[in-house]
Amino acid sequence: MTTSTGTDWAAWQESWDRQQEWYMPDREERFRIMLDMVEALVGTAPRVLDLACGTGSITARLLSRFPDATSTGVDLDPALLAIAHGTFDGDDRVRLVTADLKDPDWPARLPYDSYDAVLTATALHWLHAEPLAALYGRIAGLVRDGGVFMNADHMIDETTPRINEAERAQRHARMEQAKRDGALDWADWWQLAAKDPVLAEPTARRYEIYGEHADGDMPSAQWHARVLREKGFAEARPVWCSPSDTLLLALR
Ligand SMILES: C[S@@+](CC[C@H](N)C(=O)[O-])C[C@H]1O[C@@H](n2cnc3c(N)ncnc32)[C@H](O)[C@@H]1O
Repeated sequence: MTTSTGTDWAAWQESWDRQQEWYMPDREERFRIMLDMVEALVGTAPRVLDLACGTGSITARLLSRFPDATSTGVDLDPALLAIAHGTFDGDDRVRLVTADLKDPDWPARLPYDSYDAVLTATALHWLHAEPLAALYGRIAGLVRDGGVFMNADHMIDETTPRINEAERAQRHARMEQAKRDGALDWADWWQLAAKDPVLAEPTARRYEIYGEHADGDMPSAQWHARVLREKGFAEARPVWCSPSDTLLLALR
């Protein structure tokens, strides 16, 4: 939708999706399984927290599939949140919150203190393992009994170095080919945002916050499942994986 700013928010969503798919060609499949598991465990009208929501990719797919759902998106990036605001402007099912997930008090900024589902994708590898474990404790406090947490992200099993290296080499060769065919990577996409009259200012602020990209860890799926159980979830295991990514589900 184009708004009074003249910005075509749908076009920004599209180009964000293409850029993310350059890294994860099966990104939509991950989202589809995530929403299948939402439906299986908490039904079709859940109250969702879209954690590190970026432009609201999960929220958009959630509301398109489950029109009776509601979503709170939380993120720290002013430019991606500007795209989310432009996209969901006027939709009273969506609330957007600016917060740093490393700040222990971030849950106090949320409009609710309990959620049926907390969902996140391609984001928690921006945190190191220790703050991530602390975040998992806070998430456990936000998910109602019987509710779910799902994290779709790069999760690396360090016990399989040769498999990891072969998979990585193949993935990167395909990415290089896609780039030669015109795909935009992270840096290219942000250069476009920096030239946009509306996004230039929040893009400059996001570079002050993060630099190019925050530094974090990519522990194994087993690590995520173990820490989630230690922090209060009753069950935790992968419900989908690709050669490089895992969708990890934890049930409260
Ligand atoms: C690659 S984007 C993914 C966004 C979205 N989930 C998606 O799949 O399109 C990673 C997101 O994590 C957010 N993020 C990283 N560290 C964060 C933190 N400490 N607090 C809040 N958001 C954070 C970034 O701002 C960014 O929006």
